[in-house]
Amino acid sequence: MPHEKVYPVPPQIAARAHIDAERYRTLYARSLQDPDGFWSEQAERFITWDRRWEQVCDWDFQRAHIRWFEGGRLNACVNCLDRHLDTRGDQTALIWESDDPAVSRRFTYRELHAQVCRLANVLKNHGIGKGDRVCIYLPMIPEAAVAMLACARIGAIHSVVFGGFSAEALRDRILDADCRLLITADEGLRGAKHVPLKANADQALSECPGIRTVLVVRRSGGEIGWTEGRDVWYHEAVAAASEDCPPESMEAEDPLFILYTSGSTGKPKGVLHTTGGYMVYAAMTHKYVFDYHDGEIYWCTADVGWVTGHTYLVYGPLANGAVTLMFEGVPTWPEPDRFWQVVDKHQVNIFYTAPTAIRALMRLGEDYVKRTSRRSLRILGTVGEPINPEAWEWYYHVVGEERCPIVDTWWQTETGGHMITPLPGATPLKPGSAAWPFFGVEAVILDDKGKEIEGPGEGVLAIKRAWPAQARTLYGNHQRFLETYFKPYPGYYFTGDGARRDEDGYFWITGRVDDVLNVSGHRLGTAEIESALVEHPAVAEAAVVGFPHDIKGQGIYVYVILKEGLQPSEELQRELIELVSRDIGPIAKPDVIQFARDLPKTRSGKIMRRILRKIAAGQIDDLGDTSTLADPSVVEELIHNRIQAG
Ligand code: WTA
Repeated sequence: MPHEKVYPVPPQIAARAHIDAERYRTLYARSLQDPDGFWSEQAERFITWDRRWEQVCDWDFQRAHIRWFEGGRLNACVNCLDRHLDTRGDQTALIWESDDPAVSRRFTYRELHAQVCRLANVLKNHGIGKGDRVCIYLPMIPEAAVAMLACARIGAIHSVVFGGFSAEALRDRILDADCRLLITADEGLRGAKHVPLKANADQALSECPGIRTVLVVRRSGGEIGWTEGRDVWYHEAVAAASEDCPPESMEAEDPLFILYTSGSTGKPKGVLHTTGGYMVYAAMTHKYVFDYHDGEIYWCTADVGWVTGHTYLVYGPLANGAVTLMFEGVPTWPEPDRFWQVVDKHQVNIFYTAPTAIRALMRLGEDYVKRTSRRSLRILGTVGEPINPEAWEWYYHVVGEERCPIVDTWWQTETGGHMITPLPGATPLKPGSAAWPFFGVEAVILDDKGKEIEGPGEGVLAIKRAWPAQARTLYGNHQRFLETYFKPYPGYYFTGDGARRDEDGYFWITGRVDDVLNVSGHRLGTAEIESALVEHPAVAEAAVVGFPHDIKGQGIYVYVILKEGLQPSEELQRELIELVSRDIGPIAKPDVIQFARDLPKTRSGKIMRRILRKIAAGQIDDLGDTSTLADPSVVEELIHNRIQAG
């Protein structure tokens, strides 16, 4: 609950910040009063256009119609690379820190540009052009950024699938977006463990006839299968390709990428982002939220498979001509000081990670942190889930030595960029609060009747007007887009999150209000996991809920009803865990499986998840109203057999 501490803006940060408190107030007010004027200026400042737009924005939430900078033309890759060549061609663009602490590489803007152009030509040689979908299933290696930018250069739409996803998850995403070409690697390397990407891809592709070419990066050199006529070595193809590749001039509203995320129903949603508004917002938020100054070393630990990796590892920083660091490994290998060793090795100034990582490292003690210097650090950030004040304080005092403001950035795959966040030079910090809305973001809290709560209060978080990086649709399913985000509260974009606003206007995100879990900052739909479980021949029914977990934020608690006559066993339990892991990916592995005779249902047959959540969390004295249950004895039994979790 309310955390009383407030940390003022450190004077040395305020002194050179792009945005101080005064400027935040004036600019924020202006962004709402004169959105067209405000966003025109930002679009001019942050992006190089081939042709100027005719209309700044045109939106109607009733139809989920959102358009920005129409008539404008630009290329995202040119904005990330070409336009920097004259001024900073020999500056480092990307630092790659490999899984192996002894290996890192630097790429200048010129080198990155050359690589991107070569790959773009390879894509063209394989018949990929504007509007075609390319799937990227890669580990955290430079080729992942190169692949995204190469697609952007020729107007192809990339769909990056997180390397930790299974063959089945990959297949579903390839099919949904009807991808033509896949870029993958032989294996990924994380903490010296091998991830069989090519083997997964081979399995997925046995059901994806639309994929005609697979470019394979050689990362580990491990043994892999090979399909002649389809598989091509990446290094051979780019070596043979030209470095000359004129960019495709895109309409502001042409798609840039699709990124799949979980919703409250089983099928993942292909969130579609377009070019102009997204790029303006990515560059602007990256500069202001991290208070990025020229020459600083910036490190976002997110995987390119998530939206954070898109906006704040690749597009935002490169659009600003920044030095962006990409890390292939894990925070605890070879030892739990890896993050801080990398900070010292590359003199990182700005560090952006997830609360789950902070909690995991906190648990291992201060010594791993304190044996490193970290003097280079200036700004810290978090994203992905609410950060508990205890973890915040540890991050602030131990990691940042009370010198570095923490930006707790609230946003979503669908929002494209930061929405509610402190600005380092402007916002006094309250541990656990994402603070104030970013420029142009009109965030409101709605009560259960959908009415706006003025002033302090708690309810669901919604956004009242369009912003440039807002998702435009779900690929191939505009109806679902409309229904998920705009129908629940007409006139608003519904975030799916609950929030509280305090007396000072600070927002405190309370977590999802729908059936979406947030496990270690990864979004997972309960329905996705349930449908994996019921594939097992022994399972009659399954219900999945989240429960509070010390490190992951939320853990996965599964209730399983077996088919008539079958008995629970440890082997069955193992099989079910294995099944989910195979179907979705290791991130979705259940923490707890409770076998049950029945689930609490209303007389109309609806599962009362609220009760299942309470039981999983151990809040059995506080089950709320159970009078509508068809069979109250079911609850007694579930409580009796509940498994201590967390
Ligand atoms: C949660 C990640 C509290 C939230 C960028 C949101 C957060 C979901 C924060 C989106 C934060 C993200 N504080 N909660 N700073 N950041 N979330 O699409 O529930 O992977 O709806 O985007 O993560 O997750 P997604």
